[in-house]
Amino acid sequence: MKEKIKVLLDEIRSLSVTRLEEVESLRIKYLSKKGEVSVLFNEFRDVLNEEKREVGQLLNELKTEAQDKINSLKEQLSNASVNTEKFDLTRTAEPVRLGTRHPLSLVKNEIIDIFSRIGFSIAEGPEIEDDWHVFGALNFPPEHPARDMQDTFFIEKNPDIVLRTHTSSVQTRVMSKQKPPIRMLFPGRVYRNEAISYRAHCFFHQVEGLYIDKDVSFADLKQALMYFAKEMFGESTEIRLRPSYFPFTEPSAEMDISCNLCGGKGCPFCKHTGWVEILGCGMVDPNVLENCGIDSKIYSGYAFGMGVERITNLKYQVKDLRMFSENDVRFLEQFKAAY
Ligand code: DAH
Repeated sequence: MKEKIKVLLDEIRSLSVTRLEEVESLRIKYLSKKGEVSVLFNEFRDVLNEEKREVGQLLNELKTEAQDKINSLKEQLSNASVNTEKFDLTRTAEPVRLGTRHPLSLVKNEIIDIFSRIGFSIAEGPEIEDDWHVFGALNFPPEHPARDMQDTFFIEKNPDIVLRTHTSSVQTRVMSKQKPPIRMLFPGRVYRNEAISYRAHCFFHQVEGLYIDKDVSFADLKQALMYFAKEMFGESTEIRLRPSYFPFTEPSAEMDISCNLCGGKGCPFCKHTGWVEILGCGMVDPNVLENCGIDSKIYSGYAFGMGVERITNLKYQVKDLRMFSENDVRFLEQFKAAY
């Protein structure tokens, strides 16, 4: 018996293979139920009692060595196959496909960058808002059309809660919490109950601006907006302010820039007027300041709000608004990240 074990041990120690399948047949040959090692274990029953201890030990050694050998052969071969078959270290690298930023993010970041250079910081507010922050505090009368289901998404269970229709709602949140001076931008997504088409969507993006301090005047607003227009669309861009109405500003205005496609000469894009509208603005209505706990006798301020899709269209002439939310990589890949 001892002799047999020795022979088998020598045999196993000198095993060598070249293919993974051979290892498996060796495992069967030695270690399976009817394998040679197992057969010796069966014969162990007939070993004389006084030899049992020694032979038992040898048998156990044989079994562990056989298992170790098989495992190490397997490992050698699988490492070898990785090194030789799967990796070719001389092969040229595959080009890495870089992602691109979404055009709306690029433009939003550029707007933020331009205003941050004149001291504006950023805040965000909730997209699901209450009536007070979206309408009430902003001086919307109860019968205002924006409060109609036609224009605004209400939460069915609680008509006091809406999807914000503009980022002006963040103004009222910030002003209720923070003391002037406030010089901030509020970028974010807004929702309106519109039928989706190439020129309207049920959600879009705005950047709101707010500056509250002592002695803020309309001239400050005009200067800030002119700086923005020139930074965004080029030094030769001109601006024009037209009187308008918003419940939360008095006086209110809409701002046009000289058409950046034709330089103001007139083209189909600007409907041959030479001007395109880009934002709404005005001096914050004293009622709004008071609604938010700011003393309107001491403080005044301006606000403005612009659509990010609108500015993006002016910069890149995207003809169909729906492309912004379809995630078609062929569209998205065309925008090179500067921001
Ligand atoms: N909230 C307005 C809208 O969604 C845009 C706007 C107009 C914002 C005038 C302002 C502003 O801050 O002063 O159409």
